[in-house]
Amino acid sequence: NGLFTYDPGFVSTAACESKITYIDGANGILLHRGYPIEQLAEKSDYLEVCYLLLNGELPTAEQKEKFVNTISNHTMVHEQLSQFFKGFRRDAHPMAIMCGVVGALSAFYHDSLDINDPHHREVCAYRLIAKMPTLAAMCYKYSIGQPFMYPQNNLSYGENFLRMMFGTPCADYEVNPVLARAMDRIFILHADHEQNASTSTVRLAGSSGANPFACIAAGIAALWGPAHGGANEAVLNMLDEIGDAENIPEFIEKAKDPNDPFRLMGFGHRVYRNFDPRAKVMKKTCDEVLGLLGIENDPQLQIAKQLEQIALEDEYFVKRKLYPNVDFYSGIILKAIGIPTNMFTVIFALSRTIGWISHWNEFHSSPNKIGRPRQLYTGEQQRDYPA
Ligand code: CMC
Repeated sequence: NGLFTYDPGFVSTAACESKITYIDGANGILLHRGYPIEQLAEKSDYLEVCYLLLNGELPTAEQKEKFVNTISNHTMVHEQLSQFFKGFRRDAHPMAIMCGVVGALSAFYHDSLDINDPHHREVCAYRLIAKMPTLAAMCYKYSIGQPFMYPQNNLSYGENFLRMMFGTPCADYEVNPVLARAMDRIFILHADHEQNASTSTVRLAGSSGANPFACIAAGIAALWGPAHGGANEAVLNMLDEIGDAENIPEFIEKAKDPNDPFRLMGFGHRVYRNFDPRAKVMKKTCDEVLGLLGIENDPQLQIAKQLEQIALEDEYFVKRKLYPNVDFYSGIILKAIGIPTNMFTVIFALSRTIGWISHWNEFHSSPNKIGRPRQLYTGEQQRDYPA
């Protein structure tokens, strides 16, 4: 009707200003607060990246120590929250449980919360960064019927997560430093990605002044879909389904068939029309980790590499500028670490929480407006109710 711009999928609409993350999709560049993702993945660690995303600058040594200590002080969840898990079926998808338990945090931190107070917002961020690994590991432990492991605060963020996942109260658990470092890198590579579907969801939910924990639960729901964070789980399922390198051409043809809904999972991106820089680091990490574990001949890795090569040379993918994205190789590393496939998207949610809460915080730190998209109405004209 000429009053609004019609832009389904927000292909060309900027909904906000942001100083957090910059993406140049044509050239495959991703910067957090100006720092290239490759350098952060190589030289930094996840909690430092969290500090950077939240505060805008890298911490000094003293600021970092204080930040790490603060996060450590918030790692436990309220004992009553542990009871929530019992309400779920043991075979429930862990993302379904995460939507529930992270949303439930709002019931514990609501009454005295003032989202207009920067300090209150900061504490919400600390709580989320600290408690997400605890909750994620609890989902896994619940699914296999093992007791929950309390966090151990003298361990690094990645080590603590692995211990809560794979340790038991009856035996000491030695965290393999190679796996802990790989875990940390996966966290870094997923930390933020500007206005993707889940981050936009968190900002939109937050724009009404809603409780931040409830907003993050909304982000988790948006992330779950296979077109977004659910792709990492879908990639491994796809590689399983392909089963053997000789079946790759059949799956490539399926992906190209306009009448077949199948898509090559872990391929393509709305913004990148070039290599996803995260995928490059992920592939390198995958080679390193599997090499260090002595499983570089992993059949799924071999299929993934051949699939990537064939797709990159195929006219269909070349013409549409479809390249591997962050999810293409992450699942292979997660599997090598011992994480079950249905937990992959939970790991993405855990890592992306810092991005979500940084955007939520940025929204509330600047002049803002409730988000309220318009629509083009295509339904019935006014008509009378039958007499
Ligand atoms: N396999 C086969 N064809 C594809 C694929 C794919 N993975 N991705 C896009 N296309 C085709 C699509 O069919 C369309 O072809 P045509 O022009 O002939 O109709 C063209 O490429 C453009 O696709 P689109 O759906 O308009 O692109 P989009 O920007 O709306 O979608 C996407 C981006 C990521 C949803 C899509 O590429 C996709 O579904 N990829 C597979 C799922 C995936 O790996 N998602 C993870 C994204 S990265 C991590 C994250 O953000 O969570």
